[in-house]
Amino acid sequence: MRHNSKLPHVGTTIFSVMSALANEHNAINLSQGFPNFKSDQKLIDLVSKAMNSGYNQYAPMPGNLELREAIANKFERLYNTRYKPETEITVTAGATQAIYTIISAFIRPEDEVIIFKPAYDCYEPTIELNGGIVKAVQLNTPDYSVDWELVKSTISGKTKMIIINTPHNPSGTILSKSDMLTLQELTRGTDIIVLSDEVYEHIIFDGSEHQSACLFPDLKSRSFITASFGKTFHNTGWKMGYCCAPKELMNEFKKVHQFNVFAVNHPMQKGLADYLQEPSHYLELSQIYQEKRDYFLDLIKDSKFKIQPSKGTYFQVLDYSDITDEHDVAFAKRLTIENGLASIPMSVFNEKGKDDKVLRFCFAKTNETLEKAANILNKI
Ligand SMILES: Cc1ncc(COP(=O)(O)O)c(C=O)c1O
Repeated sequence: MRHNSKLPHVGTTIFSVMSALANEHNAINLSQGFPNFKSDQKLIDLVSKAMNSGYNQYAPMPGNLELREAIANKFERLYNTRYKPETEITVTAGATQAIYTIISAFIRPEDEVIIFKPAYDCYEPTIELNGGIVKAVQLNTPDYSVDWELVKSTISGKTKMIIINTPHNPSGTILSKSDMLTLQELTRGTDIIVLSDEVYEHIIFDGSEHQSACLFPDLKSRSFITASFGKTFHNTGWKMGYCCAPKELMNEFKKVHQFNVFAVNHPMQKGLADYLQEPSHYLELSQIYQEKRDYFLDLIKDSKFKIQPSKGTYFQVLDYSDITDEHDVAFAKRLTIENGLASIPMSVFNEKGKDDKVLRFCFAKTNETLEKAANILNKI
C-alpha cells in the first residue's frame, strides 16, 4: 500500500535511539528523562485502594472532580489564583496529550505557532499534523535567554499560538518575571493563545520562584497551562497530567478531548486526588532534586566539562567544547559505546541542528547511578 506520510521528517526519536544504544552497550542511561527511583509507596497504596473501592469505570470526561478540586486548591495555595474545577481544569493522559489536544483544538492550516529552540520534541510534529506553520526562535547561548526583539519581529497577523516552557527542557533554565511580563505585553490585545508547558513547575532551584503564566492576569486570560503528575511524583509511566485555562478556551479543548481520549485512568485520578491533600508531596521536590543536582555537580567539578548549574528540571547540560570538536551526536554515541554513559545531544532540539557542543544529562537517578556516571565523566 502506498501512502503519503503526514509527517515525512519524523523518524525514531533520539530518546529511543540513545536508550537502545545504552541497552546494547550496557551503558548507564542518563539520556531519557525519568527517575530510576520508586514512586512513594503511599501513592501506590492510594491507587490500589481506589481500584479496590470501585473506581474502575469511566471517570467524568474532564476528570474526577475531587482531583480537579485538589488541582484548583494547589493553584490557590501556590499562585493565589483561581481555576474553576467545574469548567477550567481537565485531567489528561500526561502533559503530552494535553499539548496535542490544545494544538489540535486551535491550530488550522497556515496558522503560525512560535516555539523556542531548543524545544521539547512533541510540539513541532503536532503543529505540522494540524497544518500549522512552526516559527522557531532560537534561544541565545550559552544562557538560553530569550531574544524578545526577535520574538516581536516573528509575531505576525498569522500568529495563533506561542509555546513556552519553564523550567525548560532541555536546557535547565527558567523564564524570569521580566520575561513573562514582556510576553504579556507582546500578546496583549491580540488573539494569540499561549501554551505554557509547566511540567517541571515543582523542580526549581536556589530559591527561585516558578513564574507560572497564571500569575500574570492578562497572560492567564489567553493561556493554557500544562502539567504532569508523572514528572512530579516519579511515575512517568502512569502518563497522568492536566491542563488549565479560562472557560472559553477550555470549552474548545474539551470538544477535542472527549473524542481523542474522553476520560483518563480513573483509579489513578482518585489516588492522586487523595495524595495531593498533603502539599509537602510536591513542595519537597525542589529540595530533593537540588540535592541531586549539587551531588552530581560536586562529583564532576574537576572534570573537563564546562558547567552552568541547572536552574530547574532534572536535566543538567554539560559543555564539552574543551574536550573535542566532534559533532554532539557523534560524541554522545561514542560516550555511550566506548565509555558506557548515555546522554542526549542538544543539537537534536535546536533549529537546523545547531551544534553548540553540549550534552544533556538527566540527574533524576539514585546517588549510586550518579556516582558511576561521574566516574566516567571525570575520566574523559
Ligand atoms: C517539557 C516537557 N513537556 C511535556 C512532557 C511530557 O509529559 P508527560 O510525560 O506527562 O506526557 C515532557 C516529558 O519529558 C517534557 O519534558
